[in-house]
Amino acid sequence: MRACCQFSGLWLWTLLLGGLTLLPSARSASAVDWLLFTGGFHPLAVHLPIGLWAGTVLILIVGVRRPAMLFEPWLRGGALVTWLSGCIAFLTGLTLYLSGTYSDTVKPHLIATWIFLVALNLFYDVVVKGAGMKKISVVAVGVSIIMGYAGHLGGVMTHGDIFAEVPWQAHAASAEPRVDLEAAVLFEGDDRTVFEAAVYPILDEKCLLCHAGRRLRAKLSMETEEAMLKGGVSGAAMVSGNADGSMMIERMRLPEDDELHMPPMEPFVTDEEEQLLVWWINEGIGQPVSALPATFASFVKPAEE
Ligand code: HEC
Repeated sequence: MRACCQFSGLWLWTLLLGGLTLLPSARSASAVDWLLFTGGFHPLAVHLPIGLWAGTVLILIVGVRRPAMLFEPWLRGGALVTWLSGCIAFLTGLTLYLSGTYSDTVKPHLIATWIFLVALNLFYDVVVKGAGMKKISVVAVGVSIIMGYAGHLGGVMTHGDIFAEVPWQAHAASAEPRVDLEAAVLFEGDDRTVFEAAVYPILDEKCLLCHAGRRLRAKLSMETEEAMLKGGVSGAAMVSGNADGSMMIERMRLPEDDELHMPPMEPFVTDEEEQLLVWWINEGIGQPVSALPATFASFVKPAEE
């Protein structure tokens, strides 16, 4: 009688966790800092459910071979601890997602992980209801496949997608915007560089939320010209004299809904700003602001006293 309509309490929590994904992402820098701090535990937390689930499957395999023994409590315990650690992995990942500093690739990973929790609930219920080993094994295979896929989506984010590196992709840069380079304007008495006076303010507005200070996505700092020449996990973000071959320009030019587009969310870089950045990478790195063509004069921010 009891067994027929029983749903374990785990479902409630799993549904609640799913609901949290609907929260808006952080808007203030301090909120982003806190979310990233909590999310820092994610790489550690993700390995727990993987290990615990492997243990549960092992118990199941032994259970199938020794039907005489009572394995139900062990499977039940295994499912429970895997689910618990899965929730922790999910929550720490969720904080990274809500920090808004990860590109859209994080969403499928998050959803797949949530489906993994749902599948675990199902497994738990099937075990509790005293189903046969055959049925339990079928659900276990399903849980394993979902876990593998969720893990794969997470791996693509941290280790990068190998297909993005194929040689014929690397040079498929789009048409370069042509800029009418007029006579240079002299900014008399202004001893700043092009970077300081005109480029940095753009980066500050569009990129530095995720590429400065302690928030170095892909380990890329965009605070100085040197840091950008050095680049992040995939190498130089820009190549002096070759804007078209510079990763930061390539990624700005991707379609806005491409998950590699930079920045991943608005405000995006405008065409005019891109033209300035292209000129700067081609001819303006390390140059004084007086070298800037007149077309870009409006980008120069007043010097602070
Ligand atoms: C909201 C956060 C965010 C903003 C804003 C942002 N980025 Fe990123 N950026 C990321 C993340 C996350 C990654 C790593 C994942 C990836 O490669 O897509 C990344 C990676 C990169 C990379 C690749 C670095 C490497 O070595 O793999 C470049 C280049 C880059 N960003 C350039 C820019 C530029 C240029 C801007 C501003 C126009 C910008 N980003 C703004 C989050 C951001």
